[in-house]
Amino acid sequence: MNDVRELIVSKVRDEAEAIRSFELVSPDGDLLPCFSAGAHIDVHTPEGATRQYSLLNDDRERHRYVIAVLREEEGRGGSRWMHDVVEAGMRLRIGAPRNAFPLEACSAPIILIAGGIGITPLLAMARSLEAKGIPYVLHFVTRSTARTPFLTELSQAPFAERVVLYRGDCPDEPRFDAEKLMGSLSPGSHIYLCGSVGFMDAVCVAAQARPDTVLHKEYFAAPAIQPTGDEEAFTLQLARSGGELIVPSDKSIVEVIGEHGVECPLNCEQGICGTCLTTVISGEIDHRDFYLSAADRARGDQMLICVSRAKHGSVLVLDL
Ligand code: FES
Repeated sequence: MNDVRELIVSKVRDEAEAIRSFELVSPDGDLLPCFSAGAHIDVHTPEGATRQYSLLNDDRERHRYVIAVLREEEGRGGSRWMHDVVEAGMRLRIGAPRNAFPLEACSAPIILIAGGIGITPLLAMARSLEAKGIPYVLHFVTRSTARTPFLTELSQAPFAERVVLYRGDCPDEPRFDAEKLMGSLSPGSHIYLCGSVGFMDAVCVAAQARPDTVLHKEYFAAPAIQPTGDEEAFTLQLARSGGELIVPSDKSIVEVIGEHGVECPLNCEQGICGTCLTTVISGEIDHRDFYLSAADRARGDQMLICVSRAKHGSVLVLDL
């Protein structure tokens, strides 16, 4: 289980319409656990839910974590709680930083593409790349100036000339064209993408025309995916508890093991947070999450059991 500690909210700031940032520090001034650009923390709500928020500050800082939250009226309530209840001086329960969206060490050109609140992990990446003297370009797309967070900071940052803004209400700025951008990239470019599902989908479609580039992406919410209709029942063996279970086509692994009294920590139940990551001892995995990288998947030794399944005819043996 992720290490949980209490931190104090030391600053709350409105960064744009419906976007607020929160600075968190240790109550006794201790240094906080390290993180790397792209990492997120879990914020635990009093109701027992957890929400993930990307760290946007410089990853060399040890005295604070900074997150930003978009208020989502239709969301599950975490962002409304952060906006309506959380204020400076409050204590929040925070999980240790985890990184499912790390910068890969490479000498290839680096392109950061952010849509709206998706700027948060990419802001940390920009700071980290800048500190290391690694060139990159940050493309930041928003609906309007009012909905563009960190505008002053971006315009005054040492990396300001690396930022290309695409605000929907600024005719002097270029219009974001994912296909055109993809067409302009050098072979081998690494692209880091974060934003709303619709924005990311559009960029992912455009990126399909450039299989000679490498796309890294982080979802804040799972895309609306309809069941494919090819869900099949499969056999699941639990190596530690010793059971053999059938997972029917209309149930997930976590539902089935829960019915048999086997607990697994859960959070998003959408394949985006990584909380239910489970070691796979054998079997072929049908990955359906938005968390594991291509390299993680290729190893075939772990899966997110809230959404992923077994491939046709395979028996999955899990370390549960
Ligand atoms: S609970 Fe979030 S990925 Fe499974």
